[in-house]
Amino acid sequence: MGSQPELRILFSQEEIETAVKRLAAEIKGDYQDKYPLLLGILKGSFMFMADLIRQLDFPLEVEFVRLSSYGGKKESLGRVKVVQGLHTEVEDRNVLVIEDIVDTGLTTSFLLDYLGKKKPASLKLCALTDKPSRRQVPVNIDYLGFTVPNKFIVGYGIDWDEKFRHLPHICFVEIED
Ligand code: PRP
Repeated sequence: MGSQPELRILFSQEEIETAVKRLAAEIKGDYQDKYPLLLGILKGSFMFMADLIRQLDFPLEVEFVRLSSYGGKKESLGRVKVVQGLHTEVEDRNVLVIEDIVDTGLTTSFLLDYLGKKKPASLKLCALTDKPSRRQVPVNIDYLGFTVPNKFIVGYGIDWDEKFRHLPHICFVEIED
């Protein structure tokens, strides 16, 4: 068999829950009277989105797009593929993009550029994690959970070759031969 990943916890379930509550409070303060459209980027954001919106007790809409940037287990292909596009109007809406991780920035930059051309009333980004050491294009994150080191992370929606999305905490991967 090939190399097996060893996982070490970076952020526990409890730490994630605290961060999600903090982000929800910030978002509520800014959006509670704005009927925002929360737009999740699949697949990675599904768990974060589900937990975040349960903390938001005001009217909002939920939508998803599915984008893919990674070619294999660990490396980005350097381009973004639209697997499932946008099926709702965003003109004059207050749009908040929900992302699990901003890595090179290509995925969020691509989506924010696309949405910006559709004349939303406002357009912001909420990311659970940010890995600034890997950035290739600048991205402004309006609501951020955690800054992460330059390690490959999995769990809480984030995969390694489609595995480990179900983990309730965020781990980093150590490759052992
Ligand atoms: C991952 C992650 C982000 C993106 C971040 O998605 O969920 O969407 O990569 O990387 P970037 O900043 O370098 O673009 P991926 O393309 O692996 O698809 P997935 O969400 O279906 O796992």
